[in-house]
Amino acid sequence: MEVSALIFLLLLLLLLLAATLFAPSSAHDTMAPTQHLADDGEILISFGSNFALGFFCRPNKPNNRYIGIWYHKIKVQTVVWVANRRRPVAGRFGRLSLTANGTLVIAENSTVIWSMSSTALANPIARLLDNGNFVVDEANDSSNEFAWESFDFPTDTILPGMKFGWSLARGINRNLTAWSSNDDPSPGKFVTSLDLRGDPQLILWAGERQHWRGGPWNGLRFSGIPQMKLDMTGYNFVVDSDEVCWSYYLRNPSVISRVTTTHAGVVQHVVWVEAVKSWKVVGFTPRDECDGVSPCGPYGVCYPNREPMCACTPGFRPRNSENWYLSDWAEGCVRNTALDCGNRSGDGFMTQSSMKLPDMSGSTVYWSMSLQRCRALCLKNCSCTAYASANISEGGSGCIMWTTELTDMRWYDSDLGQDLYVRLAASDLGAPHSQWSLIVVIILVFLETSIVVVFCKVWRRKKKRNPYINIDKQEITDMALPLYDLATIRHATDNFSLDNKLGQGGFGPVYKGYLREEGEVAVKRLSETSSQGLDEFKNEALLIAKLQHRNLVRLLGCCIQGGERMLIYEYMPNGSLDSFLFDEMKKLLLDWPTRYSIVIGISRSLLYLHQDSRFRIIHWDIKAGNVLLDKDMKPKISDFGMARIFGGEEAHANTRRVVGTYGYMSPEYAMDENFSVKSDVFSFGVLILEIITGRKNRGVYECALHVNLLGHAWSLWEEGRILELVDISMGHSFPVAEVLSCIKVGLLCVHEQAIDRPTMSSVVRMLGDEITLLPEPTRPGFVAPRNSSRRRIHFSVNNMSMTKLEGR
Ligand SMILES: *[C@@H]1O[C@H](CO)[C@@H](O)[C@H](O)[C@H]1NC(C)=O
Ligand SMILES: *[C@@H]1O[C@H](CO)[C@@H](O)[C@H](O)[C@H]1NC(C)=O
Ligand SMILES: *[C@@H]1O[C@H](CO)[C@@H](O)[C@H](O)[C@H]1NC(C)=O
Ligand SMILES: *[C@@H]1O[C@H](CO)[C@@H](O)[C@H](O)[C@H]1NC(C)=O
Ligand SMILES: *[C@@H]1O[C@H](CO)[C@@H](O)[C@H](O)[C@H]1NC(C)=O
Ligand SMILES: *[C@@H]1O[C@H](CO)[C@@H](O)[C@H](O)[C@H]1NC(C)=O
Ligand SMILES: *[C@@H]1O[C@H](CO)[C@@H](O)[C@H](O)[C@H]1NC(C)=O
Repeated sequence: MEVSALIFLLLLLLLLLAATLFAPSSAHDTMAPTQHLADDGEILISFGSNFALGFFCRPNKPNNRYIGIWYHKIKVQTVVWVANRRRPVAGRFGRLSLTANGTLVIAENSTVIWSMSSTALANPIARLLDNGNFVVDEANDSSNEFAWESFDFPTDTILPGMKFGWSLARGINRNLTAWSSNDDPSPGKFVTSLDLRGDPQLILWAGERQHWRGGPWNGLRFSGIPQMKLDMTGYNFVVDSDEVCWSYYLRNPSVISRVTTTHAGVVQHVVWVEAVKSWKVVGFTPRDECDGVSPCGPYGVCYPNREPMCACTPGFRPRNSENWYLSDWAEGCVRNTALDCGNRSGDGFMTQSSMKLPDMSGSTVYWSMSLQRCRALCLKNCSCTAYASANISEGGSGCIMWTTELTDMRWYDSDLGQDLYVRLAASDLGAPHSQWSLIVVIILVFLETSIVVVFCKVWRRKKKRNPYINIDKQEITDMALPLYDLATIRHATDNFSLDNKLGQGGFGPVYKGYLREEGEVAVKRLSETSSQGLDEFKNEALLIAKLQHRNLVRLLGCCIQGGERMLIYEYMPNGSLDSFLFDEMKKLLLDWPTRYSIVIGISRSLLYLHQDSRFRIIHWDIKAGNVLLDKDMKPKISDFGMARIFGGEEAHANTRRVVGTYGYMSPEYAMDENFSVKSDVFSFGVLILEIITGRKNRGVYECALHVNLLGHAWSLWEEGRILELVDISMGHSFPVAEVLSCIKVGLLCVHEQAIDRPTMSSVVRMLGDEITLLPEPTRPGFVAPRNSSRRRIHFSVNNMSMTKLEGR
């Protein structure tokens, strides 16, 4: 029994020995100078079978053969290192060998494709280690130092335990250079490296250009990778005279993990999930817009998920406020107050919390200096702009001092950033409470400007984020209209105070405001709820920006922020014509010369719109309320919300939606939706009669037969009693002939048939003519909408514009 058991044990031992000694030829992990690896499926397998080394190709390029290292246990071939990435072997005749003095060579027939250099070795051996490192060393050397190792020449991947960064002593820069594409391991444009200028920092390059800045190692993580967690992985960062390098290790060594720079420019940490047999990305960067390189410019701070995403550091203001509010932040911010460095006591520091540290290239780092000394040092040095702790682990240590502009700052919303102490002049520091108010102001500015930024982003990215806003950049560019920001307008109108309210238009209230550059202005604020008004708003902005006439109200700019849409006009101190004309006291101020000049002015602006401007424009809503009076009582037409441009030949058109003001609408316009410049002529005719009579077209007149001024005027005209209609407020001090001819023009303008109405050029001419030269008017068209089952008519507010919709 005992003997047989012993024999059995011996046999077992022998078997095990045999298994290790005479394993299949592919199962070796070393290569001696007499051996080589051919491109026929031969591979080296690391001792624990984690990694394999051999020739590989990408499926799409079978003739480009490379020596590489991949995970042996993972069926999805995942290459972590490539030897000859710049120069593939062009067929199956490549072989890897080790020379007698210890040089690794990839050759095709006798042509050397790739070789590495190391010190000459007496008895070299190449070995694939189980951590993925391919090393060459003396065969009898069991230390962990190698004559050559692939870990010193990473491709695009770092593995746990592998050093990333610099060996200063050996002049090795271990960086991660992405593949050109999934199928091509040749060096792509993205490189992740440790930049040694100032406090060493992680930078992802796209060719010559920075693509993302990971920031300095702050003792816990890279300042720009807040999501680096300590639960799964641990990190080592070494800075000394020999090396500056970083490495990571896994707390659970059975996890398969790697960090890669992808050909698309993403640095990612992936782990293998056996259950689903695929790689899972557990961390990646850059992550958001704030991870761009200094998106907010010098002294700007990027706030992800905020609108606008950029803000100036407290104590700073935008260098170019116009561009800044148009979301062009590149120019960054400038100090409100210059530093007082000569005095050494006039400056102080403002703490910016939760920050990604600014670009390090202009920094100096002192690893053992205390923060207090750091502050003192910064104050002493005229060019010092900020300081921070160099190592925030275990209470903080070390000192980073910047002597350049602070760029590429961002903020983290959880406690993952660190404090940055920004130097400011004393006057910009203020008492603690004013810092709070500063913060409040900043937040307010965020809220207020958020919408403009959304708007601007819509332009920039051609991506609609706000359903209200669909004016595209081209339109605005065409308009060449200055854009005002909401905060400015709010301030100008005393936060849209009731005291500043000038009136209520069809689309919303109008406020008086004061702008430093423009003086007094009128701000037309489109109601947020009025989605219908947006078209009118756009229309008006687009149209009026293109027009210039002394009898048209001048549009100074607009403000479009989120739901807010405002037009800013020159302020017309005397308000609208209707406020004079239909007010028993104020109409006394309208003598005949004034009324006549108003009629002439309006006729000229209409002529301009209809014929003389570059466009053929129908105003659509000529009425007393849309005629504004300047300080000299000169009229200017406003409210182009409904105006339309027509091609030169297209003098009339049909539209499904009819807008206009009851009482001024021409019959064809009200009934048949067929409108033309003659519709404006009709409205103008009504207006002339209103100006002369001081009465509204809509109203009840002496004779109940006539529902409106037109009917009343026509009957008085026929009876030769038309002078009875002239506004008695003018007394009798008016030239009768001029008034009569004016009335006659008005009646001609309100002819029922559009074709019978004069054009504006005729009107302008006739207004200067003798009454006897004018044609005889016929019965005017009345605005009495037929009760048609086909249509619905909405009257909003008595005096306001109305909208009529098809009732289908
Ligand atoms: C290598 O040798 C093989 C046969 O010996 C030949 O077919 C092949 O063309 C050679 N390759 C090169 C690149 O010369
Ligand atoms: C190794 O030997 C080759 C010739 O076989 C030679 O070209 C090379 O320079 C040697 N390398 C070293 C490091 O001496
Ligand atoms: C390894 O062997 C070489 C000679 O073959 C010898 O010079 C060297 O000292 C040995 N190294 C160690 C660590 O044994
Ligand atoms: C990456 O490393 C290689 C090899 O050391 C070096 O030539 C290259 O300049 C490095 N690139 C960057 C961006 O550091
Ligand atoms: C940061 O400080 C901690 C605690 O003092 C220390 O262990 C670590 O080595 C420091 N890191 C660096 C990069 O100096
Ligand atoms: C220092 O500050 C004082 C007042 O704060 C001022 O009068 C003086 O000019 C400053 N000196 C320099 C060199 O800036
Ligand atoms: C300020 O600091 C920078 C960076 O450390 C240094 O180069 C410069 O000499 C210092 N200037 C003074 C006046 O100390």
